[in-house]
Amino acid sequence: MVGGLLSHIPLLGTNSVMYACGPQRMLEAVSEMANQRGIEAYLSMEEVMACGVGACLGCVVKTVSGYERRVQGRPIFNGNEIVW
Ligand code: FES
Repeated sequence: MVGGLLSHIPLLGTNSVMYACGPQRMLEAVSEMANQRGIEAYLSMEEVMACGVGACLGCVVKTVSGYERRVQGRPIFNGNEIVW
């Protein structure tokens, strides 16, 4: 459903870049769409922070280079970095 809606968004060409924030399932769809079109997608993987100091692991995201705590690092990831 989300991918179907996103497919109607026009892109300027192969130099286009997608930026997105929102629910994780939608971000996954945006990443998939960017991959299909051969362009970059930068996703704001913001999450509710339970402890805010890196202790609870509630904000961990799995990336191709390991797990990252968003509270201690960055909230923006290239879609290709995320292990969905
Ligand atoms: S909010 Fe607790 S580790 Fe990220």
